[in-house]
Amino acid sequence: MSGRVFAVASGKGGVGKTTTAVNVAAAMAEADRSVVLVDYDLGMANVGQVLDVEAADATLHDVLAGDAKPLDAVASVPSGFDVVVGGTAIEDFGRADPSKLRGVADALRSEYDVTIVDTGGGLSHDTTVPLGLADETVLVSTRQAAALENTAKTRDLVERVGGSVTGLVVTRVSGSDVADDDEVAALDVKILGSIPEDSTVADSERAGEPLVAFAPESPAGQSYRELGYELLGESPPLSFRDGDGDAEPGAAMAEMMTEDVEGTESRSLLSRVTGGLLGSNGKD
Ligand SMILES: Nc1ncnc2c1ncn2[C@@H]1O[C@H](COP(=O)(O)OP(=O)(O)OP(=O)(O)O)[C@@H](O)[C@H]1O
Ligand SMILES: [Mg+2]
Repeated sequence: MSGRVFAVASGKGGVGKTTTAVNVAAAMAEADRSVVLVDYDLGMANVGQVLDVEAADATLHDVLAGDAKPLDAVASVPSGFDVVVGGTAIEDFGRADPSKLRGVADALRSEYDVTIVDTGGGLSHDTTVPLGLADETVLVSTRQAAALENTAKTRDLVERVGGSVTGLVVTRVSGSDVADDDEVAALDVKILGSIPEDSTVADSERAGEPLVAFAPESPAGQSYRELGYELLGESPPLSFRDGDGDAEPGAAMAEMMTEDVEGTESRSLLSRVTGGLLGSNGKD
């Protein structure tokens, strides 16, 4: 197998890279891909904190130190994908050799449909390694001018290290459509998705679950789900946004499904039907 490798990167820190990486991984797993998420934030590895992860025999830092094989560091999460988490001890940082990441990516590429590499902030040599080896880099930014300026630098850097930018995910959006922003348009990158500001993101972190699994019907959960499918070049099978919105793509299908069961509240039925469809995809 030769799977696709995505890097998730930003210029400014704290804009939602890890949230994006985790939720894209979960959405792609829902779309029946085998997915592994690599926590390549060498200084501040934190995927293990936002997800309830089973311990593996080794950490990414062990692998990058040459003390373990890539597949020894693979752990699984209940929401249906695998993760390679980083070590969190301060001495781990000095042990890791970023140049070994390519070998890790190659090993994972041959085992998984999709490898997603979450990166740390800043523009040091270490942080640019994944951008050069990934097939596609997904940029993440808020709409803040400072964040967008740094995104432009990161976009240029990806090209300089021989990588390729797939597009931009604009996070923590409230108010008007991001397409209306001159600053976003000036970046001249494809807008892959726009994720609303949503307090459920923090709730899902506390629960140790990806938002798309924890609250699939939340605004950000829905947007992340759409983003995951978009990156795979597919449309989500069914919209969670039922209500009475005829304009929703899944509305017609939802209506067909709700016709069969009288007296069941449409929203819960939809969730159940969708969960059933997706949950059984090739897994039983
Ligand atoms: N759509 C959203 N709505 C509300 N809060 C969000 C949203 N996306 C992210 N956050 C919050 O913003 C904070 C930073 O998110 P996250 O850790 O994903 O960013 P990051 O880019 O990975 O940060 P770092 O550069 O430190 O690795 C977290 O507390 C998260 O809960
Ligand atoms: Mg992060």
